[in-house]
Amino acid sequence: MIEKTLVLLKPDAVQRGLMGRIITRFEDAGFKMVGMKMVWVEKEFAKKHYSAHVEKSFYPGLETMITEGPVLAMVIEGLHAVETVRKIVGPTEPKSALPGTIRADFAHHSYEYTDKQGKAIKNLIHASGNIEEAKQEVALWFKPEELHSYKTVHEVHVF
Ligand code: CDP
Ligand code: MG
Repeated sequence: MIEKTLVLLKPDAVQRGLMGRIITRFEDAGFKMVGMKMVWVEKEFAKKHYSAHVEKSFYPGLETMITEGPVLAMVIEGLHAVETVRKIVGPTEPKSALPGTIRADFAHHSYEYTDKQGKAIKNLIHASGNIEEAKQEVALWFKPEELHSYKTVHEVHVF
């Protein structure tokens, strides 16, 4: 049940100075940061990370967006981390995300607006969509020696 999931704070989150406030949401929920680094993604790497989307109409805008500045990449560990981190992040479109989720509280873009412009929907954050995707994405972004094993004080109360 203890899972690792990949989270990226996309260039819009980094450039808007929201890194600390977003990380706090995961720390407040008791999750553990086990890997973290800043990366300026190249186009080739973007195609690997978004391999499921390369053929889609929104991909060119997505590639421009994800390579326009550095991202903060992190691996978050905890009970049901994949599902619960996605819940904290909220659904893809900020316009339809519920208040309390990161994508609703810090953004308001809509598909209607971005699709028409050929731009990516700016939703601040990426989080692995399921357990299989999480395993692939953690391995794509982090070497085993970049991931750390340690105890947080939360574990006294969780386990
Ligand atoms: O990120 P998430 O898993 O919620 O959504 P996705 O369907 O895997 O799409 C990946 C990313 O592509 C989204 O987070 C958006 O930034 C972008 N996207 C977009 O710009 N326009 C769309 N119509 C769909 C996705
Ligand atoms: Mg996805």
